[in-house]
Amino acid sequence: MTYFSLAQKDICEYSETLNFQRDKERKVKLILMGAPGAGKGTHAKEISKKYTIPHISTGDILREEVRKDSGLGKKAKSYMDSGKLLPDDVIIEIIKKRLQEDDCKKGYLFDGFPRTIHQAELLDEVSVPDAVIYLKCPDDLIIKRLTGRRIGKNGRIYNVYFDPPPEGMEVYQRDDDNEETIRKRLQVFYDTFSPIMDFYKKKGIFHELRGDEEKEVVIGKIFTLLDGLK
Ligand code: AP5
Ligand code: MG
Repeated sequence: MTYFSLAQKDICEYSETLNFQRDKERKVKLILMGAPGAGKGTHAKEISKKYTIPHISTGDILREEVRKDSGLGKKAKSYMDSGKLLPDDVIIEIIKKRLQEDDCKKGYLFDGFPRTIHQAELLDEVSVPDAVIYLKCPDDLIIKRLTGRRIGKNGRIYNVYFDPPPEGMEVYQRDDDNEETIRKRLQVFYDTFSPIMDFYKKKGIFHELRGDEEKEVVIGKIFTLLDGLK
């Protein structure tokens, strides 16, 4: 190897280290939106890792409460099983508490929040996001993705059609991933989405991406978008 190619390699490695450090140090306040099954949870895990910001999924928080059989969990279960949204005041309380935790000093990535215009307005009073990414996905693909979704014990999201779990691995299926509830969740999404989209469009922070492409393509586009943010 010549001196020149060695130096070039060193420069590349140094620049990669700088990029890595810059990603780690950036404060990113982000919202990932999309219909059920658009890929919010799947991509949120990658974004959270790259920018070292907490992935805050109101759905995951509520499912954990259901699992613990807490007061909130008991209340949440009936809403979730029927595909309806929990009352805004319950959700806002959860978010305000979560934002006070130390890890949110570096920013945050909301997945599944805000879900109503009221939630979006209340978030604005506490913290203004830098960017909102909307993953657009057709309904027929959503039904297939959600009926095929399986979740591993460690939270890893699989799919029997697109990304099957390893042979013999113990996985579970969400109670709301049946076709009837999926259709209800979709309806709720379409009933509430437009005012939220308009709210963030007016602020100039709304970005729409295709959520129906290969996972690697979608996450690549998300990273390009986020890296381009000032
Ligand atoms: P929540 O948990 O937020 O569910 P959701 O919005 O219905 O969204 P999902 O988690 O089903 O979909 P996802 O977009 O995360 O998809 P995923 O990445 O897993 O909410 C559940 C309930 O909680 C609500 O109904 C409500 O009752 C309550 N709730 C929560 N937040 C609330 C709030 N703010 N206000 C009021 N109530 C609230 O992907 C799906 C599948 O597709 C996976 O199998 C994955 O492997 C696959 N997949 C994803 N992307 C790709 C790809 N590009 N290619 C191939 N396969 C893919
Ligand atoms: Mg999810």
